Amino acid sequence: MIKLLLHPSQIITVDTNGKNVKRGKDLKNINVVTDHSMLIENDIIKDLIPNSSVDNIHVDKIIDAEDKIILPGLVECHTHTAFTGSRADEFRQRLKGTHYEEIAKAGGGINTTVTAVRNSTFDELVNIVTPRIEYFISQGITTLEIKSGYGLDFDNEIKLLKVINYLNEIFKIDIISTFLGAHTFPKEYKNDHDGYIDLITEKMLPYISENKLAMFCDGFCEETAFSTDEIDKIFEVASSQGLGLKLHTDQFNSIGGIDVALKHKAVSVDHLEVVQKKDYEKICKSDTVAVLLPGVSFFLNYQYAPARGLIENNAIVALATDYNPGSSHISNLAFIMSLAALKMEMTIEETISSVTINSAKALNLSHDRGSIEIGKKADFAIFNTKDFSDIVYSIGKNLNQMTIKNGNIIYESDGDKR
Ligand code: NIG
Ligand code: FE
Repeated sequence: MIKLLLHPSQIITVDTNGKNVKRGKDLKNINVVTDHSMLIENDIIKDLIPNSSVDNIHVDKIIDAEDKIILPGLVECHTHTAFTGSRADEFRQRLKGTHYEEIAKAGGGINTTVTAVRNSTFDELVNIVTPRIEYFISQGITTLEIKSGYGLDFDNEIKLLKVINYLNEIFKIDIISTFLGAHTFPKEYKNDHDGYIDLITEKMLPYISENKLAMFCDGFCEETAFSTDEIDKIFEVASSQGLGLKLHTDQFNSIGGIDVALKHKAVSVDHLEVVQKKDYEKICKSDTVAVLLPGVSFFLNYQYAPARGLIENNAIVALATDYNPGSSHISNLAFIMSLAALKMEMTIEETISSVTINSAKALNLSHDRGSIEIGKKADFAIFNTKDFSDIVYSIGKNLNQMTIKNGNIIYESDGDKR
């Protein structure tokens, strides 16, 4: 089946010349093609052809993209979408001045959501998470990462991972599952950290890898959560069992998480609000992606990660929502791009590379997606605007008109959202 995406105003290819990643200065090169249409064969990008020659080509189906722009399908590489319950009361406490970490130390925070998830069935979780995934798809997201991390015991972590894997079967987008057993210590292991690490390494990880329930293992390296030694032990076992590694680190305190992540060749280090110069130079020399989460800084009224310093030192920077009930109750990726531009001084072009090719890299998937290059997956976000700047400039709006996954239209907006 040959399809033609006809007459778009712009095709933003985010071309990488086969490198499948954008580092440092290269983030700004997104390659805007005009006067071309796009040919796709089945689920693969076949060619970009000049509009003057489209009449000579046989196609089975034409998709009208007149006055619209085509981007690679967006890749959302860091979310905690599989949660239930509300933390609005903690949000109220924070509005009165209580710090996020104080709430966590008092037994709230992540553990509040753990209680809610433990009290929910598989079906209840599926029903709660489903419309959230639909919202991501409506934004042009064709690959979505979701972490566990709100079960924190064997049965409930496995339940969450099974929910995520089930939703991957149901939805046409790719949902990538990450095991985050090391999110925080659950109440019953508050005074037995070693016991919890043993549970993760001896019971959870072997079951997860045997049953292929997760592609990645993540952790939270922080004074109130896991130490570098604890993360080191978990990563040792996770990587020996074939899982890729990711780490939440340098959010509130810089306690050595970057070193342990780089030692294990983690695919990404995420957060980095307080990353120190000596550490970000190490990140910049590695292939590990710096996933920045400006929604967290906005939601917690907190400092932003040093995006400029990272980019100027040649880092691979990606952006994500970190959608979760406590630190970033935000699931609008275009809004995150706007925050990155306004609060972290990223250019509009850099934000586009950060939610396409580099976020694909943060999921080890940039070989077949994240840019419009011949032979890659026909995954696209088609925005209802003539100029790509509008995506970042129209703050909080969803300008995505159509989502295409593997060559098929899987979402179409029913109206002009402006
Ligand atoms: O990425 N930092 C740790 N974990 C999440 C927050 C989870 C929560 O508060 O529920 C984050 O910010
Ligand atoms: Fe997170």
